[in-house]
Amino acid sequence: MDCSCGRKGAVAALISAAAVISVCVTLMVSLAVRKQSLEDLAPRPSFYSGGDVLDYLLNLRRIDRKDGLLVTWYHAANNKSSMEEALEADVMALESDVTLEGYNTPNETEKPIMAHPPDVYSDNTLQDWLKAVLRLSNKVIKLDFKNIRTVGPSLDILVKTSSELIIDRPVWLNADILKGPNVPFDIAVNASQFLTLVQKKFPNCTISPGWTTLYLPLFPNKTYTQNMVEEMHTLVGKLPQQITFPVRAVMAKPAWTHLSWLLSQSKRYSLTLWQGKTDPVRVEDLLFIRNNSKPEQIYYDLYEPVLSQFKKIALYQPEPSAKYGWRS
Ligand SMILES: *[C@@H]1O[C@H](CO)[C@@H](O)[C@H](O)[C@H]1NC(C)=O
Ligand SMILES: *[C@@H]1O[C@H](CO)[C@@H](O)[C@H](O)[C@H]1NC(C)=O
Ligand SMILES: *[C@@H]1O[C@H](CO)[C@@H](O)[C@H](O)[C@H]1NC(C)=O
Ligand SMILES: *[C@@H]1O[C@H](CO)[C@@H](O)[C@H](O)[C@H]1NC(C)=O
Ligand SMILES: *[C@@H]1O[C@H](CO)[C@@H](O)[C@H](O)[C@H]1NC(C)=O
Ligand SMILES: *[C@@H]1O[C@H](CO)[C@@H](O)[C@H](O)[C@H]1NC(C)=O
Repeated sequence: MDCSCGRKGAVAALISAAAVISVCVTLMVSLAVRKQSLEDLAPRPSFYSGGDVLDYLLNLRRIDRKDGLLVTWYHAANNKSSMEEALEADVMALESDVTLEGYNTPNETEKPIMAHPPDVYSDNTLQDWLKAVLRLSNKVIKLDFKNIRTVGPSLDILVKTSSELIIDRPVWLNADILKGPNVPFDIAVNASQFLTLVQKKFPNCTISPGWTTLYLPLFPNKTYTQNMVEEMHTLVGKLPQQITFPVRAVMAKPAWTHLSWLLSQSKRYSLTLWQGKTDPVRVEDLLFIRNNSKPEQIYYDLYEPVLSQFKKIALYQPEPSAKYGWRS
């Protein structure tokens, strides 16, 4: 091979490399644009309903590390207009409430609908909700059951739906199954019935078993006890599923000894901190909890402005320019 030929070859190689690169760049740009507009509709990695939310969102590249604080929620995505708003919103997980049509009235039917008590009617059934959410989004599903009679018929619908559409994302099944802080009467969903139904009908899920709660502003220290968390661990400790315990955020810090004991009992356990609409959740309490747990152990389903205030501090990382002193 003579020298000029080699040079010619190199030039040709360079030109073709440049062509390949420019094609690649064009493709990447157009893919990025497509990704933005079709984000929820793009083909997605296969996943399953019992899978971990953080693994799922990592696969989708919605988050870049396993941290529950990065997961964003839409609350009470129940009736059609709320559901549609939620589907369009840039959130990763939908929390919705299920009950039976006409629940506890003479007109009660076996049809699960999307409504929060005291509502017992809705323009949205669970069946329609599932179809819309599965077809139009890749959002994580959390269903909150307020009574035991709703659970069986709802799980039947999940099973039926999974035979028609692939449920390619995590599904959380939530119910308050134990009597919790400050609640005078036992209004919990029957624990053994709930857990048995889930095992029997739709075991491929994450279970979200909670305590009924009442927050008393005058007694901010009345909260979850060691007995409560031990009772819960006794109920779910041997189950195969991942478990996330919903915990009322305003009561979490004074109960931290007990909640962190609970977390330490199993790698399958996490907490989901939630906020009552008017609960005075304090950023410093959240920071304390964040500081004393692993990022993948806690989800935060909280209202603004507390959520943003908390995130700003908790997720703050000094910019490199600041670190190197390029700014005065
Ligand atoms: C749907 O729910 C939202 C939020 O709860 C409520 O503001 C709205 O009035 C409801 N719409 C209908 C048609 O019921
Ligand atoms: C139950 O249904 C009957 C007949 O359809 C109706 O007249 C009645 O108002 C309903 N009751 C409630 C509580 O919705
Ligand atoms: C839950 O239901 C079972 C029957 O399925 C019953 O034996 C048990 O007493 C109930 N538990 C509570 C706390 O009501
Ligand atoms: C759930 O489904 C996945 C994928 O089909 C499977 O690998 C897994 O074993 C199932 N888990 C349970 C608890 O059934
Ligand atoms: C009770 O609450 C106060 C104020 O929130 C706090 O400083 C104190 O440590 C709490 N005591 C216990 C036993 O949790
Ligand atoms: C977080 O933990 C570190 C070390 O344990 C401690 O120095 C810091 O004060 C804690 N911050 C908060 C907000 O609790």
